[in-house]
Amino acid sequence: MNVGKNEPRRDGPAKLTGRALYLDDLDIPGCWHGATVRSSVPHGKIKSITYDPAFAWDECIVVTAKDIPGKNVVALIEPDQPLLADAIVRHREEAIVLIAHADRALAYEAAKRVKIEYEPLPPVFDMEQSDKTFKSYLISCGDLEAGFAAADVIVSGEYRTPSQEHAYIENNAVAAYEEDGVLTVTGSLQCPYYVLKAMTQIFNRDENAIRVIQTVTGGGFGGKEEYPSMLAGHAALLALKAGRPVKIVYDRHEDMAVTTKRHPAIIRHRTGLTKDGKLLAQDIEVIMDGGAYATLSGVVLSRGTLHATGVYECPNVRVRSKVVMTHTPPNGAFRGFGAPQTLFAVELHWERISDALRIDSLTLRRRNILKLGSTTATGQHLLQSVGAKECLQKAVKNSQYVSKRKAYDRWNKNLKNPTWKGIGLSVCHHGAGFTGSGEAYLASRAGIALTKAGELVILAASTEIGQGTNTMFAQVASDALGVPASWFHIETPDTHKVPDSGPTVASRTCMIVGGLVSRATHELKRAFENEYGRVPKTPADLKKAAAALCAGAPARRFEAQYENPPDVTWDDATYRGDAYGVYSYAAIVVDLEIDKLTCAVRVNKVTTAQDIGKAINPLLAEGQIIGGSTQGLGWALLEEPIFKDGVMINSQLTNYVIPTSLDAPPFEVILVEKPYSRGPFGAKGLGELPMDIPGPAVAAAVKHATGRLIATLPQTPERINSSLK
Ligand code: MOS
Repeated sequence: MNVGKNEPRRDGPAKLTGRALYLDDLDIPGCWHGATVRSSVPHGKIKSITYDPAFAWDECIVVTAKDIPGKNVVALIEPDQPLLADAIVRHREEAIVLIAHADRALAYEAAKRVKIEYEPLPPVFDMEQSDKTFKSYLISCGDLEAGFAAADVIVSGEYRTPSQEHAYIENNAVAAYEEDGVLTVTGSLQCPYYVLKAMTQIFNRDENAIRVIQTVTGGGFGGKEEYPSMLAGHAALLALKAGRPVKIVYDRHEDMAVTTKRHPAIIRHRTGLTKDGKLLAQDIEVIMDGGAYATLSGVVLSRGTLHATGVYECPNVRVRSKVVMTHTPPNGAFRGFGAPQTLFAVELHWERISDALRIDSLTLRRRNILKLGSTTATGQHLLQSVGAKECLQKAVKNSQYVSKRKAYDRWNKNLKNPTWKGIGLSVCHHGAGFTGSGEAYLASRAGIALTKAGELVILAASTEIGQGTNTMFAQVASDALGVPASWFHIETPDTHKVPDSGPTVASRTCMIVGGLVSRATHELKRAFENEYGRVPKTPADLKKAAAALCAGAPARRFEAQYENPPDVTWDDATYRGDAYGVYSYAAIVVDLEIDKLTCAVRVNKVTTAQDIGKAINPLLAEGQIIGGSTQGLGWALLEEPIFKDGVMINSQLTNYVIPTSLDAPPFEVILVEKPYSRGPFGAKGLGELPMDIPGPAVAAAVKHATGRLIATLPQTPERINSSLK
């Protein structure tokens, strides 16, 4: 068995030694450099575009919306976002003019020599003042009024979460060129087939005349889910007009100022409970700030809405949610995809309820937590793989949560101590894969090829973005066929070579696409058994078997396509049914200390237990959990995007502070494995789960330490200090 072993990461050595070639490392002969002229107002009419006559414009290529051969749109869900603004701008930094020059510095210089005049229009920056709703949802079950009428207490609270920058190590970067009539884009991206779809509309070409190839990608976290479609369109427009390759590589400032971020959110809870803490009614309102265009906001809101009740059973529920337009760059996918926002609210709300009922929040959670046989607010019956209680139990026990809570209460009573100490916990679920009928609609395909030379090549559009996709695929295929993992190559995600296995998002790559790879490999196994008499045992045997199976053809290809299990049903119109095939679960305990003088927070220990079904590669799983939790701690304690006039003004890593390895506290990670019958070897989703709950656990620990509930993030020293006044 290879699954369950710590197979070394396939992409590790090249990245560690610097041999990995990222987009900007590629030497593309004759390649020019692209630069972008952007809107300097958040909302306005474009009155004129003029070009400084002192600049040598004949040395460069200039592109505006008029050069777009097809539709001026970045196709995703709603066709509302233009590739280049034409007539109207709806956010600061919106792209208007593109320039390509042989010299990168001169491309940027040219961009400065373009003058755009605007007739300003009034902008809206406050999501509560917006009059345009992109999408809204309603989840309703039971009888809300009866629930509140029967309640002994009703507790209300409002919670706010900020934006967040992905801060992947590699900025957005794409190159484009035309080769034999095929418009090719290559770059740092999560979803090759999303880019392909967008390109067909911009260039009015069919899919065969466009090719999208992923290069080694330095992180994504959702930030390369949608934006690369925009960048690919820009680079390709320039390349076609220039008649030569063009690359666009953002620097950090541009990347942070113009690309998508996490949706800021406001969440309001009104909760009815019995006096011993049983949930009777949850009335929840969610508002998210979508920015200027719809992009993925509707689906981010959907996931946020579906996770808003938390990991609890409640008979009477109403969740009303909306995502609205404001005049800032569009917000988009970010690890957790709306769930960290709503989970922050529901989890921290337990601390308010705890104060109201004088029952500790751990007991309250235990009393209401989802278990095998529970029904969710959408009417989903949880019939297998429910590890919520076990995660909570293990995180509480290993962190010594209960005894430390008492010990810290005593410590905090002693006024002479230089610090306050606090310990807080949080627990959650995270739906794996696309929401509702999403996976059925995607109908993803993945495969394996056996070449006549005896190579085994895994075929999927799922991208390695640092999370371990390629290693995981090889391990799954290895056990499906019963040969060493080292026998498998992973094909580069290239739309001319691999089937559409869907986007690399939504914690779906292992559970959904890993399952397809496993099924396709079983097809190959059957072919070996039927046509060769056995699965080959040695590399030499594999060569012989390949010659027999391929029978002169260059390769044999085996594919599997996603099939929706008949008992998983979902109704988009009523938001009733199985919102996800299965959920992963996690609990976290954050143990911290606050300096009384400076209010600086030091996290002393994080203990987290996560039910991911099956760890295909435990070390990689642990890495995902520590990385995701640290990203969550950054959101909770350090990261504060500051917007002024609709643009992020601290768009640099010098003043937008993210945690480094030096800020990472000691972690204890406990893997809980409640197998899911439909995941490969029992595996469920893992990528986003660890990002979901550090926020509320930090806020609960700060409250334990200081006695103040701060219902917003980040909990910076400044914010903690002002809460004490
Ligand atoms: Mo994601 S945040 O589903 O790339």
